Amino acid sequence: KRLAATMAQHLVFHGTIIHCLNVEDLEIIKDGLIVVSPDGAISSLMRSVEEASVLPHLSAIGLSEQQCSVRFLERGQFLIPGFVDTHNHAPQWAQRGIGQGMHILDWLEKHTFPNEARFSDPAYARRVYSSCVDGFLQQGVTTASYYGSIHPEATNILADLCLEKGQRAFVGKCNMNREAPDYYRDATVRTSLSETQQCLAHMRMIDPEGRLIKYVITPRFAITCEDDLLAGLGEIVKSNPDLPIQTHFNEAEQEMSYTKKLFPKFDNEVDLYNHFGLLSRRSILAHCCYMSEYELERFKELECGVAHCPISNMTVGGGFMAAPIREFLRRDIKVGLGTDSGGGFSSSILDAMRQALVASNAREVTSQGKDKGLLIHEVFYLATLGGAKVCCLDEKVGNFSVGKEFDALLIESKNSAPGVMTMIEEHDSIDLILDKFIMTGDDRNIKEVFICGRRVK
Ligand code: GUN
Ligand code: FE
Repeated sequence: KRLAATMAQHLVFHGTIIHCLNVEDLEIIKDGLIVVSPDGAISSLMRSVEEASVLPHLSAIGLSEQQCSVRFLERGQFLIPGFVDTHNHAPQWAQRGIGQGMHILDWLEKHTFPNEARFSDPAYARRVYSSCVDGFLQQGVTTASYYGSIHPEATNILADLCLEKGQRAFVGKCNMNREAPDYYRDATVRTSLSETQQCLAHMRMIDPEGRLIKYVITPRFAITCEDDLLAGLGEIVKSNPDLPIQTHFNEAEQEMSYTKKLFPKFDNEVDLYNHFGLLSRRSILAHCCYMSEYELERFKELECGVAHCPISNMTVGGGFMAAPIREFLRRDIKVGLGTDSGGGFSSSILDAMRQALVASNAREVTSQGKDKGLLIHEVFYLATLGGAKVCCLDEKVGNFSVGKEFDALLIESKNSAPGVMTMIEEHDSIDLILDKFIMTGDDRNIKEVFICGRRVK
């Protein structure tokens, strides 16, 4: 029921609103009333407002019926925060699901480098990246941290597409100048760094305030980067301390032992990346399957964030390991979810949530009960507020606190295609409906997607 619809209106929803206040507290707001101002910010969140008193409540905060577009959600419909994908390879959109069970260095050589090399062609890049961004938006990913290919032109196209389609995104040109074939690596440290600066400048030009798009420093991982390249990237971070940084960290034994061989001076990856100035509260470290006590302590001190990629961890790359998520949470180390699409075969955060549960149950067994399996509301936290914290965007998004920007998914749990989401019944509580959606729903249940108040699906 739409009461009015004109330009620059305040977007108003009445009905069930679900979000996390922190990892322990899932808040289910019944008869909630949320008001989004025309600039996309949440200006008001009220609880227990009866349908009949919506207009008086709006009027009490100075809004007339004409200024608002009011939506009344029905039973089975609810709002949740948009999903944050903290780790994702845009060029691998074209290779999802390929190379199951392979170890990381073999998988990169056989499947990934030949695939990513194709992004030297800007027309091809535009076609694949357009499908990629559309695909993630369809699935409710309102914020994504993307690795691009090594190509600056293709990477800038990815950033342009995210901005045009309205997705909040970190986008980075992938830096790699060794341990990769001649046809797919940065020619020299100098060109790698200057192309990085070129992409950084492009993104600052298209979105000067970084409202949606931010450049992210993206060394692929230490194996493919010479010391001078890592040091040069660290210098860029030093002069631009607001830049996020992403890389792969302690993913698999093959990767960790080869890293040690290439960097004999360092005992572990924390000391290695930190030496080059690449660890800070803005660092997003993917995988972190194997963590020593020392590395856990350093993560906490340095305020690094973890991109947990439970699908790829157990299917591609050779980690085949349930990462210590309970330990991160216990120590208050930031952690969110990554699809790692396409090492991860799925580009759905719902799938990542489910696999995080599965992996955590395996971890409970292998840790002899020390690391208890995750709960559904905890993986929901990882997918929303946890991810926002990892990206240092939790003052902007991650839940529906007043003042944040409205990144939201409108979930429709009724009337989904047969066989998809578990049907809801008359007496189902909202908690139960949420569980059914998280465990069995898919993008058909994500009816509408909003980013900064703009509808993108
Ligand atoms: N390590 C270095 N590059 C990659 C990549 O593309 N995917 C995964 N899973 N690990 C990596
Ligand atoms: Fe990855």
